[in-house]
Amino acid sequence: MMPFVRSDLAQLTAYKPHPSSDTVRPVSSTQLDRLDTNESPYDLPPELKAKLAWTYQQAIETNRYPDGGHEELKGAIAEYINESASLGTSVFTTANISVGNGSDELIRSILIASCLGEGSILVANPTFSMYAILAQVLRIPVVQVTRNEANFEIDLTAAQIAIEQTQNPPIRAVFVVHPNSPTANTLTKAELAWLKTLPEHILVVIDEAYFEFSQTTLVGELSERPNWVILRTFSKAFRLAAMRVGYCIAHPELISIIEKVRLPYNLPSFSIVSALVALQNRKLLLDSISQTLSERDRLIETLSQQPELQVWDSATNFVFLRLKPHHSHPQDAALKNLNQKLKANGTLIREISGGLRITVGTPQENIRTLTRLQAALASLASEQLTQ
Ligand SMILES: Cc1ncc(COP(=O)(O)O)c(C=O)c1O
Repeated sequence: MMPFVRSDLAQLTAYKPHPSSDTVRPVSSTQLDRLDTNESPYDLPPELKAKLAWTYQQAIETNRYPDGGHEELKGAIAEYINESASLGTSVFTTANISVGNGSDELIRSILIASCLGEGSILVANPTFSMYAILAQVLRIPVVQVTRNEANFEIDLTAAQIAIEQTQNPPIRAVFVVHPNSPTANTLTKAELAWLKTLPEHILVVIDEAYFEFSQTTLVGELSERPNWVILRTFSKAFRLAAMRVGYCIAHPELISIIEKVRLPYNLPSFSIVSALVALQNRKLLLDSISQTLSERDRLIETLSQQPELQVWDSATNFVFLRLKPHHSHPQDAALKNLNQKLKANGTLIREISGGLRITVGTPQENIRTLTRLQAALASLASEQLTQ
């Protein structure tokens, strides 16, 4: 049809955003519980929205390009990183940080800077899908290994073999999430020890999108590891998914390369201001985390009592579960069935990697999730009986 288009792109399936614009409409006059994208359930407090509205009216000149150097924002981010990792005030500076239009943009910049035309990437599935999707768009080969089905630890033997044997092109970057999505587990000691053995010509990307929930970070390792980069985002605990702000932390030399490949004005002025205001008010915004964590534990405890479900511990703001094997009914069909029943009743969750991933919502949303999931399981069981 369009002979000027790269032939491999015709085969590629576009990333389907969640929620897509057709899913945000209310279902039968009730608002949907959107628990499928791991956002915070809470909008910014009204006083911060008012402050941002004032800034938009009074301080932002829409006819002017945004601050393309991001120095003020990078300074505030550096201060936050040092504080949250209990490091000295000047351990990380603006030279250690690059900001992106969401961490998705930084993933693409990192791929361009490391692998484009020269290397493959290694991922361990199930994991965040954007690494492979963005690599494919750039024609970067993706080497995939699996995880232990019981605790989702990476198959380190397979990973090591892949590193040693992959050629034309060799593996140049390894992507891990800490804690992983969709499985919600942090890196184990063995995984960390293995990452530390990787030679300096391999880039290690550690995605800490959920750091504020897990409170576990590897930033303390960066001073000794020039081949490591840590990704973070304002889209989750900081409640700014609509603003698209992510950042990465690394050795200044690596940062200067990532800066070379980014677009000059990648962050709109309003996004920059929103991230600054969020950082200035971090205590207020991050205060809701303890409630999210206790809600998560309650969800896990209640769901674990359902005999059909296998539910894993979570170090973050979502829960991953699977159906225990049931020989009379194919797992995938049963998961789809449950997902559709929940959606029909107003709760959006994510069917992914042979399981369901459920974001922790407000207490009211979580009560509805439990009620609707329990009803869906009961109805699935009765459908199975009558088959
Ligand atoms: C592990 C992980 N990394 C990155 C992102 C994307 O974050 P952003 O909104 O900053 O692009 C997500 C979003 O779900 C995620 O789960």
